[in-house]
Amino acid sequence: SGDKIALTPTMGWNSWNCFGHEVSADKVKRAADALIKTGLVNHGWNYINIDDSWQFNRDGKDPSFKGKMRDENGYILTNSKFPDMKELTDYFHSKGLKAGIYSSPGPWTCGGCAGSYGYEKQDAESYAKWGIDYLKYDWCSYGGVIDGLPDNDPNKVSSLNFQGGGDLDKGVKPFKLMGDLLKTQPRDIVYNLCQYGMGDVWKWGNDADAQSWRTTNDITDTWASVKNIALAQDKAAPYAKPGNWNDPDMLVVGVVGWGNPHQSRLKPDEQYLHISLWSIFSAPLLIGCDLEKLDDFTLNLLTNDEVIAVNQDTLGKQGVCLQTIGELKIYVKDLEDGGKAVAFANFGREKVDMSYKDFRQLGISGRQTVRDIWRQKDIAKINTSNQALSLDIPAHGVVYYKFISSNN
Ligand code: DGJ
Repeated sequence: SGDKIALTPTMGWNSWNCFGHEVSADKVKRAADALIKTGLVNHGWNYINIDDSWQFNRDGKDPSFKGKMRDENGYILTNSKFPDMKELTDYFHSKGLKAGIYSSPGPWTCGGCAGSYGYEKQDAESYAKWGIDYLKYDWCSYGGVIDGLPDNDPNKVSSLNFQGGGDLDKGVKPFKLMGDLLKTQPRDIVYNLCQYGMGDVWKWGNDADAQSWRTTNDITDTWASVKNIALAQDKAAPYAKPGNWNDPDMLVVGVVGWGNPHQSRLKPDEQYLHISLWSIFSAPLLIGCDLEKLDDFTLNLLTNDEVIAVNQDTLGKQGVCLQTIGELKIYVKDLEDGGKAVAFANFGREKVDMSYKDFRQLGISGRQTVRDIWRQKDIAKINTSNQALSLDIPAHGVVYYKFISSNN
């Protein structure tokens, strides 16, 4: 039922940016508890997605590792960090949450854990049996398969490095294979492709039966990373629609960095810009921080229902840049109720003070009520045909408005 799931972008949390290879069942349960305790769950955040390293690693160091990562029928074995997957998803489901998991089409994940290569059918069945609701499928070592370096025996602890390489046409095949298998399972499993935008994935992700796909490289909590990723989204925008989303990667706010936990290095205005753009891009919203360490600022960023409503708008259009003035980019997203969300995003180092009246460029005309989305209040009623709006946009910051026509 690929056309009936993920009709709005996925919202939840992912373990990678804060726990990395140190993820465990206990930690993700605590993240689930925190999602509820902080009230995030009441704003639509409901997926708990386990990323890389829930499986056995090929380093063989897990104390429960007995030389095999799979049973005699190829079904993946659990380990000391994740002893019981069904018990874990039951825990999430009992709290009204959903469970996400991670694998690679290659023999190894990026972190050197058991991937699905050669065992796709068993893995799809395991996910369904465990009660999994979401799969992130990460390219990682598949390039090595294409390059003829198959290490098909995941029971063999190998040090072969499969990174890199790969023919992109061949690259579609393993994603489609898993997509078909997920579709035949007796439960809906949202399918996310993670191959960093290679081969213009937005053009074929739907054919691989996926609901979302990463468009760009891994995000980090730096301004350069957020800026580069943001500026690379427009080319994929026409392909977004209900059930098909472009994924610019996780939200880098709050305490991130496994091994070296620290507050996001993005400045407050940069964080407003980041969240506003992921909202207007109709991006899957996946919080990447430690939910037990949320401060009030971060919680406020993530619980603004009007910001979330633009992201979750049922029309499912992705906002695009319709006007560039110097380093100011103006993104516009059409909304189901006929309104338009507009993000005035200032990528420059200087603040922008201006009197704006170029509304026709944005597809806006006539009498409009202008609502400040972050502040959740109407700030002006203007006739855009002959009146200007004064804008005051901080450096690396944003002004996020909704325009509601009052022409009739
Ligand atoms: C690369 C992906 O892009 C990241 O989001 C994360 O899943 C890592 N791999 C895990 O190894």
